[in-house]
Amino acid sequence: MRAVIAGTGGYLPARSVTNDELAAWKGLDTTDAWIVERTGIRRRHIAAEGETASDMGLAAARAALAAAGADASDVDAVIVATATPDSAFPSTATLIQGRLGSTRGFSFDVAAACTGFVYALGVADALVRCGQARGVLVIGTEVYSRILDWTDRGTCVLFGDGAGAVFLRGMPEAEAAGRGILSTHLHSDGRHGEILHVDGGAGSTGGTGVVRMAGKEVFRHAVAKLAAAVDEALAANRLAQSDVQWLVPHQANIRIIDAMGKKLGLPRERVVVTVDRHANTSAASIPLALAEAARDGRIARGDLVLMEAIGGGLTWGAALARF
Ligand code: COA
Repeated sequence: MRAVIAGTGGYLPARSVTNDELAAWKGLDTTDAWIVERTGIRRRHIAAEGETASDMGLAAARAALAAAGADASDVDAVIVATATPDSAFPSTATLIQGRLGSTRGFSFDVAAACTGFVYALGVADALVRCGQARGVLVIGTEVYSRILDWTDRGTCVLFGDGAGAVFLRGMPEAEAAGRGILSTHLHSDGRHGEILHVDGGAGSTGGTGVVRMAGKEVFRHAVAKLAAAVDEALAANRLAQSDVQWLVPHQANIRIIDAMGKKLGLPRERVVVTVDRHANTSAASIPLALAEAARDGRIARGDLVLMEAIGGGLTWGAALARF
């Protein structure tokens, strides 16, 4: 069986905040020029009061199902990647399954920080290949605005809220005709947990904690580890860099994105970039970018798409898919 990406969808909160507005709103000692130069971020969406990961994930899931011409009765499994679940349980995936009105199959969350979507895609692909699910919703949804230290200019300017989703349809290999997820490559190294972490949680402090990051260290690991994951994905499929039609990277920093595009020899217009308008939406960033590029017609059926991400853990990975 092959897991074919049958539809994509995205959701962004209504409120979009520019760097200057953010600085004024939160009383931050920063400038638009500094943020743009170091990160490429110009604005980000911030969830409304009471708007949760399940609210946003549900909207993205509905859009992905509609794009696939599917409905809740086609869904065997819901997998949500998030670091900002509505609550410890029910899982955000189960909340979304319930609100979709789907009563069969199963649902669960995946925790791999900014790599969450690649991890969830890997799990979904495995479920489809082994015949345990046929229709799978894979969702990344995040409200980082609730786990930021708004007095720390080194982190709070970097993140935004949003959700993205894909609907995977299991097809026999002959019917898929080369389409589908080709492979996923997942990695983690817990020795580096301290350089990007949330300093609390239900099982330790009882609170949610906030994001703490050693930015330069993360940057160093990101470039090396993402380059290795990309090489691994291509080698596993006996593909060359020149076969890649679209790079859809995790959107944390334009300098990391540009480094990966350059490594692959891809012109800028073959790299899907949303970080300027969305900032880093963690597990939501890749499916949001996929949805945007599918909707505006850039990514078309048959295109080879390379995805890669790195996040807290450290976790990192890559996925190759033919649309
Ligand atoms: N506005 C203005 N100045 C800021 C600032 C901000 N928002 N944030 C930090 N600074 C200051 C620092 O305080 C420091 O000042 P000092 O030299 O007086 O101490 C100076 O800028 C340099 O800080 P530094 O952290 O060394 O900057 P940097 O060039 O490494 O850029 C990041 C910081 C976060 C943009 C960069 O390290 C980065 O992008 N790292 C990767 C982050 C990432 O991708 N994380 C998510 C992975 S999922």
